[in-house]
Amino acid sequence: MKAAILYHPTLPEKLTAGETEMPRPQAGQVRVRIEAAALNHRDVFICRGQYSGLRFPVILGADGVGIIDIVGEGVSSKHIGQKVIINPALEWGDDARLPGPHFRILGMPDDGTFAEAVCVPEKSVYPVPGHLTSEEAAALPLAGLTAYRALFTRARLKARERLVITGVGGGVAAAALQLSIVAGATVAVTSGHDFKLERARQLGAAEAVSYRSDDWVHKLREWSGGSGPDVVLDGAGGGSLEAAIDLVRPGGRVVLYGATLGNVPALTARRIFWKQLDVLGSTMGSPEDFEQLLGLVGAHQIRPEVDASFALEDIGSALHRLDTGLQFGKIVIHTKDSR
Ligand SMILES: NC(=O)c1ccc[n+]([C@@H]2O[C@H](COP(=O)([O-])OP(=O)(O)OC[C@H]3O[C@@H](n4cnc5c(N)ncnc54)[C@H](OP(=O)(O)O)[C@@H]3O)[C@@H](O)[C@H]2O)c1
Repeated sequence: MKAAILYHPTLPEKLTAGETEMPRPQAGQVRVRIEAAALNHRDVFICRGQYSGLRFPVILGADGVGIIDIVGEGVSSKHIGQKVIINPALEWGDDARLPGPHFRILGMPDDGTFAEAVCVPEKSVYPVPGHLTSEEAAALPLAGLTAYRALFTRARLKARERLVITGVGGGVAAAALQLSIVAGATVAVTSGHDFKLERARQLGAAEAVSYRSDDWVHKLREWSGGSGPDVVLDGAGGGSLEAAIDLVRPGGRVVLYGATLGNVPALTARRIFWKQLDVLGSTMGSPEDFEQLLGLVGAHQIRPEVDASFALEDIGSALHRLDTGLQFGKIVIHTKDSR
């Protein structure tokens, strides 16, 4: 089969698709013939060798949608022919509060979805929400799961609360915008690009400001009525997290799921305790989070934002686009089975 196999760290745009053996499902697994997959920032980090627990060679890709064509021992053959969406959070474990010792994300160290087929545990696949195309559905799992858990399980976002989402052009942030709006929150966003601010307004953001302007924290404090929003969702870390702690209202919540900009250079500890803040970390999500995400997406007919679609053979160009940061929402790849 064709697959994007990473043999050693490389520039993301240099990754190509080659030929490899079709995988066989082990006991408890199903094989999914991939129709569409989606990129995440971790794929870029892994390409560059900037990820913990690297192993080579590996097929990249956490997100995927396709048809089950064969099943391993102990799995009912009634699943054959079903179209499924894969939950990339493997082996979360028994405790919904945090992942257990065997937790992993599909696509490193396990072979992932940038291939014509992938084998995953039967318990990691779910029916595809009926209103979505394969490409839209592939855009959902990792970003949607991360956004869902951060907003609802961790920050306990409620209807009519004010939420600020930083860097709305990212996959998780764009998903968070769509999910928080259907949940009844009033949402403001930041971005470094005017066209992304405009798209966020079209999707229902009540306010949209550039994080490149010097006074964006001031503008969003004004927008929130002077005291600051109830919740800030941040995936950038660094100066963005520092600003989030400054911006959020006393007694509010800051929830962090990434650190694209790195660590916080100068965190004023007093701000956290004096403002009685909850600073929350969040990563991926439990199976319950994934099921609730699918329920919310189905109930509100949410269609994930798809920025662009590339053929599997053009994986290098797809990764390059993600790396340039010019996308809004998700970059997907399709196989010949999808069209
Ligand atoms: N914990 C988890 O489970 C989890 C899951 C997924 C991702 N992540 C991490 O979350 C981060 C974002 O991933 P992604 O895939 O959603 O994003 P992405 O699609 O790769 O986009 C990059 C993001 O960085 C934002 N950004 C860049 N400079 C910024 C700044 N100065 N201030 C605020 N935002 C800035 C961009 O905002 P604009 O484009 O709007 O300017 C965009 O949202 C990555 O670090 C990733 O590793 C963590």
